[in-house]
Amino acid sequence: MIKHLLSGADLDAATATEILDTAAEMATVAGREIKKLPALRGRTVVNLFYEDSTRTRISFEAAAKRLSADVINFSAKGSSVTKGESLKDTALTLQAMGADAVVVRHPASGAPHRLANWVDGSVVNAGDGTHEHPTQALLDAYTMRARLGRLAGLSVAVVGDVLHSRVARSNVLLLSTLGAKVTLVGPPTLIPVDIAGALAPGTDVSYDLDSVLPNVDVVMMLRVQRERMNDSYFPSAREYARRYGLDGPRMRRLPEHAIVMHPGPMNRGMEITAEVADSPRSTIVEQVTNGVSVRMAVLYLLLGGNNR
Ligand code: CP
Repeated sequence: MIKHLLSGADLDAATATEILDTAAEMATVAGREIKKLPALRGRTVVNLFYEDSTRTRISFEAAAKRLSADVINFSAKGSSVTKGESLKDTALTLQAMGADAVVVRHPASGAPHRLANWVDGSVVNAGDGTHEHPTQALLDAYTMRARLGRLAGLSVAVVGDVLHSRVARSNVLLLSTLGAKVTLVGPPTLIPVDIAGALAPGTDVSYDLDSVLPNVDVVMMLRVQRERMNDSYFPSAREYARRYGLDGPRMRRLPEHAIVMHPGPMNRGMEITAEVADSPRSTIVEQVTNGVSVRMAVLYLLLGGNNR
């Protein structure tokens, strides 16, 4: 097993499948009266969050606690970071407290990679800037496999603000490794030139959502990240929703078995309507549930839970 999980590219097919299979076993714990395993007793997991999060932060905390690890939650807001303390000095402080794993979210792309050079424990990238979010890709893959029974040969459309999306990057890398075919869909201004080939050969790009929908097994809608936009990438929110939003009529163009995903948080009414988000095809709530099992599997395998 790898020591750190920094990128979807860190996972070969065998390792990714081991994580997904372990997550399926972890999911059985959620159905028990006592939702705890002793696997990481005596280990310390630090959640180091420099950027806001609901799902990822809470699910890593729940995952570590279900494995009986000690959990330290660190939020940059209210810490000595506001007095100017650097990431390195914060990391060395955590190291001195005996962190076995550091789960880090940071607005700067590459921050988890730097951290991995400074601490002895495992580092898990919980989202770095516009770069990657590998555990989101793993929980997405888990959800697809659970709903559709396989990953190899699936056709997956990833739709919207690809330019700013760490979720899109990690999904392209992981899904390609696992044999799915990804098509990136969005306005030309929000799909970086050459991204498809640079990430994974065989990935397609389309600017026409309506032509893609009838041929996919999965449509993954991305949040329009207006907080990261310092330019005008489309004429108006209304125009974006008209061309690239998933609404009821568009959803009905999907094959009957196809599912709708979104990593959250959603801009309801922009990239996805309430009718679609709350429909039986939507896996959005399942994705959150599966996130706990997948993160349990990641922590368990990175910390050598299977070798203790
Ligand atoms: N999907 C995701 O990363 O959500 P949060 O920002 O709430 O963690």
